Order: sequence, then structure tokens, then C-alpha cells
Amino acid sequence: MNISKICCIGAGYVGGPTMSVIAQKCPGITVTIVDINEQRIAAWNNADLSKLPVYEPGLAEVVAEARGRNLFFSTDVDTAIAEADMVFISVNTPTKTYGKGKGMAADLKYIELCARQIAAASTSDKIIVEKSTLPVRTAEALQSILHNTGNGVNFHILSNPEFLAEGTAIQDLHHPDRVLIGGENGEAVQALVDVYASWVPRERILTTNLWSSELSKLTANAFLAQRVSSINAISELCERTGANVDEVARAIGTDSRIGPKFLKASVGFGGSCFQKDILNLVYIARTYGLHEVADYWEQVIIMNDHQKRRFADNIVQTMYNTVSGKKITFLGWAFKKDTNDTRESAAIHVADALLSEEANVVVYDPKVTAQQVYADLDYLCSRSPEENRRLVTVVNDPYDAMESAHAVAVLTEWDEFKTYNWHRIKDSMMKPAFIFDGRKLLPDNKLGQIGFQYYAIGE
Ligand code: NAD
Ligand code: UGA
Repeated sequence: MNISKICCIGAGYVGGPTMSVIAQKCPGITVTIVDINEQRIAAWNNADLSKLPVYEPGLAEVVAEARGRNLFFSTDVDTAIAEADMVFISVNTPTKTYGKGKGMAADLKYIELCARQIAAASTSDKIIVEKSTLPVRTAEALQSILHNTGNGVNFHILSNPEFLAEGTAIQDLHHPDRVLIGGENGEAVQALVDVYASWVPRERILTTNLWSSELSKLTANAFLAQRVSSINAISELCERTGANVDEVARAIGTDSRIGPKFLKASVGFGGSCFQKDILNLVYIARTYGLHEVADYWEQVIIMNDHQKRRFADNIVQTMYNTVSGKKITFLGWAFKKDTNDTRESAAIHVADALLSEEANVVVYDPKVTAQQVYADLDYLCSRSPEENRRLVTVVNDPYDAMESAHAVAVLTEWDEFKTYNWHRIKDSMMKPAFIFDGRKLLPDNKLGQIGFQYYAIGE
């Protein structure tokens, strides 16, 4: 099967960068990314590349190379489906907020809508690729919808989960550790292998059965998040015992069986996927009656919630048990550096806890807009939108943000925070000048010498 036209439904953090790289590396394939969100598509088509809806280092260059040549962004979903040989589904699969499985299961309504639209718009055989992260055995449901509502054409379903991390998406897509393709139809699997083989070494393209591929994605995220929760659990013990969590991480990470990555203690992991995917894994295990398995993985989330809460509690306690009316400046709001994505960012939950104590929170993040900060807080429904706007200010200049602050809290590990003139900042702050470093980012010795009261996770 030779693929000449690809359609991707969903122009988000995964669909946008992933398909842009396919278009860049496969100039012979026409790639059309479609979305129902007109604003998002308009932003992808913006002539000003700094206005793309997703910020990722290197993305603008890839889009500049391929857009208009063989990469297109459109809201005409039906036409793009009808013309494609291969359709990727890359829509969001958030945690359900209603009904059975509320707060745990993945909400598959967007996936089902896609399947019905694909079935209705298809007048020729197609390969359908699950790019979204899905519960194991979703392909079965997709197959049933496609065959029962379609026009009698053939659909082959493949699972091709995405492993990119935000902030390094383009690097991850150009040089993936592996590409995973699950499927039952050999020709369809080979067609997708051939697409990736344009730039990925063949030995890095793994093929499995559908269910292994679907389950591997949830499992990979669960293992990664588990490492963060494991080191975060140790960070609390370090704070009580005089051990230093970075030193412990280095000591264990040099063991080749453990490895050095994902051992950085933090204020808690965020992002749109770790929590959602583990909750989904827990839900799936429970539905099969595997309660010990479910409880085991749920602990990763419990530990993460604890880490966010105790960071906020420590700020209040250290500042003489009251932050009411005090200015606390947040450096960072994104869930990690080099992204404008704030979904499930620890900053949101730490801010919420401090706002409940009537603190005045000032936020500076190099890539996150004020509108997004307020939207994140409003979404929690902890207080009225007016109250959020009264208590929270978003500032574009870091020095202005920290001027006359009682405390600075580092929530995201943006590199630029390390380059600031901390002498000047200390002089402009209220005394004692507190820093709570949720990323263990700043040089503690130096800040101590300058005269800050410096507290970091895990030391
Ligand atoms: P996103 O919310 O950024 O993008 C999803 C897009 O799909 C939205 O723009 C939405 O408008 C669009 N959409 C929804 N229903 C649609 C429909 N019926 N027709 C057309 N467009 C529709 O989500 P994302 O971060 O790109 O994640 C997508 C999937 O990829 C999720 O399942 C997620 O778990 C998985 N994933 C995400 C990441 C990541 O880093 N964000 C990494 C790996 C996997
Ligand atoms: C993660 C996975 O790394 C990707 O492989 C996966 O494709 C993606 O989820 C997904 O399915 O969405 P992402 O969430 O973008 O990627 O970013 P990570 O680098 O994994 O960081 C997640 C969170 O953990 C961040 O808040 C980060 O600050 C935190 N983290 C990470 C730590 O606190 N310590 C670490 O050592 C590593």
C-alpha cells in the first residue's frame, strides 16, 4: 500500500508537531491537519510563525519548511478524510467529568465522533491510525463503529501511540527512541512503517499486536510518573534527615539498572497526560477486578497530590503561619520549561492553596498569557472569577513581579530564572526575603550568601 495522502484529525500539541514532521520528512506525502477549532487552525496558518498555537523549540522552522508545500491546516474535516489513504486520530481523550468512571476513565466521546465522521465521509478504503492515547481495546470499539456506520469500504485500524514530551517535541520526533505500531493487518502495518522509515532507523520501529501497543502507551506514562513520585517521596525524607535529594538521585542514577533520567525532584508532575493516563490505567484495572494492581498505580497520583500540597503548606508555615495579604511571586506557571502548556500544572494547585489563605499571588511566566492563568484558576471553581482577578496579578517583567514581594516561589524550571540578578531582586523584596524553590533550580549557596532565606524541595 502506497500512502500519498494523510489526514490528521486534531491540530493540538500532538497532531500539530507530529504531522508537521511527517510532512517535513516525507515531501511526497500530502499531509492535511484538520480541527473543528477554527481559531486554532487560523493560528496554524498565521504568516507570523511566532503566533503558532503551540510553542515548541524548532517547530516554527519545520512548519516554515513544509507549510503550503505538502502540509496544510484546514477546518474542512470531511474533504480531508475523503481524500486521504491514511487517517490519524489525534483528538483529546481527557478524564471523564460525568457519569460512570467520572474522575478516572478516559472520555472517549471525541474519539467516537471522529469514528462516525470518518465512516460517513469515506468512499474508499482507509487505514485508521490511533494516535491519541487510548484505553486498551479501544480499537475494538472503533472497528465496530466504522463497520456498522460506514459506506461498505474497508478500514484497517492501527495503534501508533505518541511518546513525544512537550518542550522537546521536535527533537523527540526527529530522533525517537522508538516508534510503536500495533496492528493485525500486515500490509497496513507495513504502510505506516514505510512512512516512518523515511527518517527513523528500521530497528527503532517496533511492531506489536494492537492491544500491546495500546497498553504500552499507558504503561510508559505510568512508569515515568512513578519515577517522579518515587524521587518526590524520597525528597520529603531528605528534608527531615539532612540528605540532599539531588545527591541521592545522582548516587542511584549512576546504577545502570536505574539510570539517571526522570529522577529530578519537583513540586509535583503536571501536564495533560500523566495523571489522566494513570487514572485511566487504575480504572481499567478495577473494571477487570484487579484491585491490588489498581491500588498500586493509584499511589503514584496520591504521592503527587501530597507533594503539591506540602509545598504550599511549607510556604505558609515558614512565613510565620500566615500569608494573608502577602505578595508571593510565582516564577513559572507552565507545567515544565520550554512549553506554553499549563494543563495540570502544579502551579495551579499551589496557587489555589495560597489563595485560600488570602495571599496575593503575582505570576511571571515567559510563555503563558494572563488569560490562561485566570482560565486555569477559574476552572477549579474554588472562588469567583472576580475574586481570582482581585487576588492574582500576571506581570510581564520578572523584576517588576518580584518587587516588594514577601516571597518568591519557583514553579517551573525555565533556564532564564538562573540568569537573574538576584542581588537586585533581594534588595527590592520585603525582608526576610524568602525563596521556595519547587524545582531545586537556583544555586542555594549563592542565594544564602546574598541573604535570602532559601528553601528547596528535598534539602
Ligand atoms: P489537544 O487538546 O492539544 O488537541 C486535540 C485537538 O483535537 C483539539 O484542537 C480539538 O479541537 C480537536 N478535536 C477534538 N475533537 C475533534 C473532532 N471531532 N474533529 C476535529 N478536531 C477535533 O490534545 P493533545 O495534547 O494534542 O493530545 C491529543 C492526544 O494525544 C491525547 O489522547 C493525549 O493523551 C495524547 N498525547 C499527548 C501528548 C502531549 O504531550 N500533549 C503526548 C503523547 C500523547
Ligand atoms: C510525558 C512523557 O514524557 C512523554 O513520553 C509522553 O508522550 C507524554 O507525557 C504524554 O503522553 O503526554 P510531558 O508530560 O510532555 O511528556 O513531559 P515530561 O517531561 O514527561 O514531564 C511531565 C511532568 O513531570 C512535568 O511536570 C515535569 O516537570 C515533571 N518531571 C519530569 C519531574 O518533576 N521530574 C523529572 O525528573 C521529570
